[in-house]
Amino acid sequence: MSRITLSRFLIEQQRSANLLPAELRFLIETVARACKAISHAVNKGALAGVLGEAGTGNIQGEAQKKLDVIANDVLLEANEWGGSLAGMASEEMDLPYAIPGQYPKGAYLLLFDPLDGSSNIDVNISVGTIFSVLRCPDGVTEPTEADFLQPGSRQVAAGYTLYGPQTMLVLTVGNGVNGFTLDRETGSFVLTHPGMRVPAETREFAINMSNQRHWEAPVRRYIGELLAGATGPRGKDYNMRWVASMVAEVHRILTRGGVFMYPKDARDPKKPGKLRLLYEGNPMAWLIEQAGGAATNGRERILDIVPTELHERVAVFLGSKEEVETVTRYHAE
Ligand code: AHG
Ligand code: MN
Ligand code: MN
Ligand code: MN
Repeated sequence: MSRITLSRFLIEQQRSANLLPAELRFLIETVARACKAISHAVNKGALAGVLGEAGTGNIQGEAQKKLDVIANDVLLEANEWGGSLAGMASEEMDLPYAIPGQYPKGAYLLLFDPLDGSSNIDVNISVGTIFSVLRCPDGVTEPTEADFLQPGSRQVAAGYTLYGPQTMLVLTVGNGVNGFTLDRETGSFVLTHPGMRVPAETREFAINMSNQRHWEAPVRRYIGELLAGATGPRGKDYNMRWVASMVAEVHRILTRGGVFMYPKDARDPKKPGKLRLLYEGNPMAWLIEQAGGAATNGRERILDIVPTELHERVAVFLGSKEEVETVTRYHAE
């Protein structure tokens, strides 16, 4: 049986669907290579002295883990010299990263959450990397923050790498969602999950229930109905999961369905949610839509939101269509 590696898959996409300029293909392969290096560091863990706190903080007020910083550096170093990027932005950097002057600049912008779920890293639970690619506005060679503030509907590639029992890369270039498993013997990502789809219906939800007292009324109503089970208004029993790594939750939903929520809550009334629109909300929303699911902030489609700042937050409801439509309808009532 011939194995389809990520490289072969991308070349075939370039030929058949004409979705993939060579420069974008090179960029995706470079991100994948960086994720392999991150996967190695994550796997070595304490053996490489990479666990624990970095002793620094990021602009969102989070304490950075050593691996947050390492993963960020790996992505920057891998992607700065290749010539396909005009700039990068990351959850872990206050400002956009300019491509150093000695390297050529390209047509794309790369945005990433270098290590998602980093509160899980010291307890050996799955973490991931999330990435999103936008086109740099025409004629711009030194992109500023404003150039990154494009709605998610303009993404040209998005994906994540899950560092779990297997390392997997899951990708969309606007032509469905495909999953690749890292074969450590050959060093290649191999297509193992072609055409991933989110079932329209589900009996599984994911939310951090400890925040219940802070939620808005529509979310309380919706979760209350799920918890009521078979004799409640939804007429079925639901199961719950909360990994606290968005990558792991989205991967579960792409694999067996479900709904994931991180709503706006009253802990910080000024913020529209906890998760970041550009590094988490947009790439995951596009993957889920490309797999037949839905993604909203409770009121509108996440991909339609026009960002006003780089580290903008967003409420997230994503997954099986029926559930996302229900909770979104409750926000409108
Ligand atoms: P990050 O580790 O990149 O900061 O993201 C963590 C996010 C997301 O992965 C997860 O769904 C959520 O935070 C968990 O939040 P709680 O700890 O509030 O449950
Ligand atoms: Mn973080
Ligand atoms: Mn994250
Ligand atoms: Mn992160």
